[in-house]
Amino acid sequence: MDKIVIEGGKPLYGDVRISGAKNAALPVMASALLTEGTNTFHNIPDLVDIKTIKKLLINMGVQIDGDETCRINADKITHCDAPYDLVKTMRASILVLGPLVARMGVARVSLPGGCAIGARPVNLHLKALEDMGAHVELNSGYIEARAKKLKGADIYFDLQTVTGTENIMMAATLAHGTTVLNNAAREPEVVNLAEVLKGMGAKISGAGTDVITITGVTSLKPAEASIIPDRIEAGTFMIAAGMTRGEINIIGCNPQHLESLINKLRDTGMKITPIKNGLKVSAGKKITSVDVKTLPYPGFPTDLQAQIMAYMAIGGGLSVISETVFENRFMHVSELLRMGADIVIQGGNAIVRGVPKLHGAQTMATDLRASASLVLAALVAEGTTEISRVYHIDRGYETIEKKFSALGADIKRVK
Ligand code: EPZ
Repeated sequence: MDKIVIEGGKPLYGDVRISGAKNAALPVMASALLTEGTNTFHNIPDLVDIKTIKKLLINMGVQIDGDETCRINADKITHCDAPYDLVKTMRASILVLGPLVARMGVARVSLPGGCAIGARPVNLHLKALEDMGAHVELNSGYIEARAKKLKGADIYFDLQTVTGTENIMMAATLAHGTTVLNNAAREPEVVNLAEVLKGMGAKISGAGTDVITITGVTSLKPAEASIIPDRIEAGTFMIAAGMTRGEINIIGCNPQHLESLINKLRDTGMKITPIKNGLKVSAGKKITSVDVKTLPYPGFPTDLQAQIMAYMAIGGGLSVISETVFENRFMHVSELLRMGADIVIQGGNAIVRGVPKLHGAQTMATDLRASASLVLAALVAEGTTEISRVYHIDRGYETIEKKFSALGADIKRVK
């Protein structure tokens, strides 16, 4: 098992190019199941999760070639199932459910188990499919869904669910009649998927708002499209600039997708200015502690909560960080405490008192974004930090140690 070793204390300077967004690429690649012919997608990131969804699709008989530019042909789908051994490594596999039922009328997808950050049920996905006339059963850990032809329905999501919105939006493109998604997720990744589906001939309006209307068509044609930049990767590097007292040009990010973070980081004293193709981000004179509450987009993203907590751990005062999206997304706290942070958890809130410095330690990654926060803490900690179970990082960050060492960090991956 690889681990990452970091010698803290180096300010980061220079340019970092942001990769395509994992959480946009996954639904877009799944949407290829809706069409015959060859879809071409650009700016696909090189991540473990991308390799996983490729395996899943190939297992269904789909042909795929290419990496950053990926061509996917789903002329022949020979198996309509997503087996447990693949789904257990990536919950986003649930995204094949909607397209399979819509295109093939049948799907057998392993229930994604829980994960470190919470139970993460998919009940809202299943209820919406039933509302559209699908017959859904749970048999020995598998979702078995069937529908001769999905029919348009008026869907109301009890919670804003990103992949739930994406799954049902994809299913609705080939349903008979019109589907309205109420309380839909508004994330940029949902909008990216909607644009790709429209490029395939789908009739969709309202993506990016909380009401999305889809009028079903009889078939879709293959599309060519690009994946948006990863706002969570960009946010992680922006926070790194503030923590290490450096200055980083975040190249290729989309500032409009980062407004809640930009405002928050400015409140901590950082300078953030737009440049030709991204943002110039520099540390403030000192770090002012701020409160953070995670919310569905356009609120502060839960996927940056662990990272901003690492930043507030060395802040100038007291910061209250509220996690409202997931029930157990404070796994990084125990590791940060071992590095000398002063954090107390009270229910869904973490009370973070800034300390003058953190100390290197042996730590263990638990989930994707928690491991990113350990990397950030290690970059400023005094001494050496080792982070084991690095596969968590590789799921969502493309060659993270190469990108950080290019900015001056003393970071290396050891077998
Ligand atoms: C997506 O997960 C992202 N993953 C997550 O990113 C992200 O943290 C999350 O949205 C929130 O922004 C992908 O897009 C592949 P949800 P998703 O459905 O869709 C509850 C990362 O690090 N819920 O929006 O699974 C759920 O338990 C990952 O890249 C139900 O109760 O999240 C959670 O509390 C981590 N029933 C809340 O809704 C359902 O049927 C939001 O979850 C669905 C969700």
